[in-house]
Amino acid sequence: MSSKFFLTTPIYYVNDVPHIGHYYTTVAADVLARWHRLKGDDVFLLTGTDENSQKNVEAAAKRGYDETRIQEYLDEMAANWRQTWDKLGISYDGFIRTTEDRHKAGVAQFWKAVAAKGDIYQGEYSGLYCPGCEAFVRESDLVDGKCPIHKKEPQVIKEKNYFFRLSAYREQLLKHIDEHPEFIQPTSRRNEVRSYIDKFMEDISITRESVKWGIPVPGDEANVIYVWFDALINYLTGVGYGSNEQEYRKRWPAQLHLVGKDIIKFHCALWPAMLLSAGVPLPERVFAHGFFTIDGVKMSKSLGNVVDPLAVSEKYGRDVVRFFLLREITFGEDGDFSFARLEQRYNSDLGNDLGNLLHRVLSMTEKYFDGKVPEAAQCAEAPVDQAKTWERYEAAMSKLDFGDALDAIWEDLRWDNKHIDEVKPWTLAKTDRAELAKVMYYLLEHLRQTAWLLRPFVPEISEKILLQLGVAEAEGKKSLEEAKVWGGLPIGGTIAKGEPLFPRREDKQ
Ligand code: MSP
Repeated sequence: MSSKFFLTTPIYYVNDVPHIGHYYTTVAADVLARWHRLKGDDVFLLTGTDENSQKNVEAAAKRGYDETRIQEYLDEMAANWRQTWDKLGISYDGFIRTTEDRHKAGVAQFWKAVAAKGDIYQGEYSGLYCPGCEAFVRESDLVDGKCPIHKKEPQVIKEKNYFFRLSAYREQLLKHIDEHPEFIQPTSRRNEVRSYIDKFMEDISITRESVKWGIPVPGDEANVIYVWFDALINYLTGVGYGSNEQEYRKRWPAQLHLVGKDIIKFHCALWPAMLLSAGVPLPERVFAHGFFTIDGVKMSKSLGNVVDPLAVSEKYGRDVVRFFLLREITFGEDGDFSFARLEQRYNSDLGNDLGNLLHRVLSMTEKYFDGKVPEAAQCAEAPVDQAKTWERYEAAMSKLDFGDALDAIWEDLRWDNKHIDEVKPWTLAKTDRAELAKVMYYLLEHLRQTAWLLRPFVPEISEKILLQLGVAEAEGKKSLEEAKVWGGLPIGGTIAKGEPLFPRREDKQ
């Protein structure tokens, strides 16, 4: 049954170009979007740029754009982000920039709804502000007087601000979290957010008097709206809230917000409270993934170890990097991006387990059957239980357990390689042609099935496998349900063995 699947990435600050950490969230979203499209769902993947942040204004100044040219800087950077996703093959359906008129209109509408509810009041605020977090921080969170994330002393700020009655939503939020265990995932994050809401959540200031760049408060233009209050609303304005009512009604609520663990509180406390206040339905699920280091070290400009997703994809291949990110780092947990591990996985998982298998099977098909898919007496019977693999894969995908979905595929690939060594087709070629045909049909058909399983993760590799099996065009016309039926590889079809998919890296250099 097809259903709607609206998912989002965070919108990214444009104080710099994308790095591999931003790419990670975006790739995960892309894999899910491709998976749901394959299932026939009505998918909308929204991404975009968070442009009303002081970080961006400072970056513009540093690069020599004066106050009159901030928008110019933002335009250039937003184009850069968008082009990066295009070059990397990210299949987004919508791209929202928070300096667009449609966003500003939606934010004004949202503000008015919250104000009409009586949830905005004016007050004097004095507190510690960390520009890195774009958030007020508590004294008790500081380590040696510094923000533990950004390692900088927060600014002391005293301003007249508008406040949002966040604390009024404590009970409602706790109830929602308790009644909807799927709302915040993984569980460890749910517990963290729950305890924050329960014990620490206070009203927050949602305007900045001293800041000039941003969306003005409706009716009080001297104040600009706090960047997080503005940014979160992108999830609505990106699908038409405030500009295209019909589209908005069709898309909202989101089925999934994908975020990094650093911004979970904004998404699971502030955002749902804002929505409750404005009378807008809540998103169904927020999933927070972990952070990774690079070769064991935190990624940072000053250390010079920031990985550029374009450069690494150019070097290894887009799909290789996609595969590596989702296979190597357990989604939801912290991990490490290591070039040595990337090389290892390239050679072993991709080169040996998958690439060699395809090459071996196609070579044998050429040798023993003239490059034609052999007729097998019992081709309906698979030694590997393909239905079970699909079941495990689908369950893993719905839990965003990408590692397990890939494991399910790889266990079968390894089984195939072992199977070849055990049944020795080269001996069967002399002793039992019928059995040989059966073995070869199974292997070829299993590669066809594998190409489908791989499609959301590594679309180009998947296509290459189907091309070499000689069925790319025919498979392109199938629905997932049709493709999953065992025995879909037509007997007598001609294969088109090509270059090995993963030439050994040493050979390349
Ligand atoms: N603009 C806000 C989000 C607003 S959403 C309404 C923001 N932007 S960001 O540019 O800093 O991007 C943050 C996201 O990038 C994180 O949530 C995470 O998804 C991703 N990552 C950044 N560094 C990362 C790692 N080192 N590892 C994994 N993901 C990382 O926050």
